[in-house]
Amino acid sequence: MIIAPSILSADFGKLSDEVNMLNTSVCDWIHCDIMDGVFVPNLSFGIPVLQSIKRCATKPLDVHLMIVQPERYIQTFKDAGADILTVHIEASPHLHRTLSHIKNVGLKAGVAINPHTTTEQIYDILYLADLVCVMSVNPGFGGQEFITHTFKKVEKLKNKILQESFNTLVEVDGGVNQDNAALLKKAGADVLVAGSFVFTSPNPIQTIASLKQNLY
Ligand code: DX5
Ligand code: ZN
Repeated sequence: MIIAPSILSADFGKLSDEVNMLNTSVCDWIHCDIMDGVFVPNLSFGIPVLQSIKRCATKPLDVHLMIVQPERYIQTFKDAGADILTVHIEASPHLHRTLSHIKNVGLKAGVAINPHTTTEQIYDILYLADLVCVMSVNPGFGGQEFITHTFKKVEKLKNKILQESFNTLVEVDGGVNQDNAALLKKAGADVLVAGSFVFTSPNPIQTIASLKQNLY
């Protein structure tokens, strides 16, 4: 299981300490949520903060763009330090072109789907996607409740990927905690994003290790 703590729930007043904590932990990636206040009803952080994270981080940056017209910023996010760049299908009328562009600049390309978007809607683009981010909350905020319908979506998507022999990873983002981590693994998730569960826990390093080892 790939574990990607979401830095959105970190204390930005001591960002380098938080990134160093993640460096010390057994997490695999650092999930960075970019929100524009248009695609989602919230603003998070942008390029300068991402660059600061990159300067401290020893793990790949998994950058989740919750912005309209994400195709405008592909090179910018590459230059800022993204390793995986994920765009929303709901924000991308030319998804084939956008994913191709992301791959052409040398990044891993991800596509995120909102809770109301069906898995079938990405079948014709799966061969191009290194990762599908299945949103298990409505994007925009950390600390929301997990939508249990996600289990079915993950299972269905994973079966399709296996059937087609693709290497696409299935990531689950939103409300991941001790109550759903094992069930998500069983359903076929490859990557778990966890924000508030990690950063509000008394011992984030231990919480990350427990998620990694499927102890929940
Ligand atoms: C939601 C973001 C998530 C969020 C996860 O819009 O995409 O990555 O930070 O936070 P938790 O784990 O607290 O739901
Ligand atoms: Zn996210």
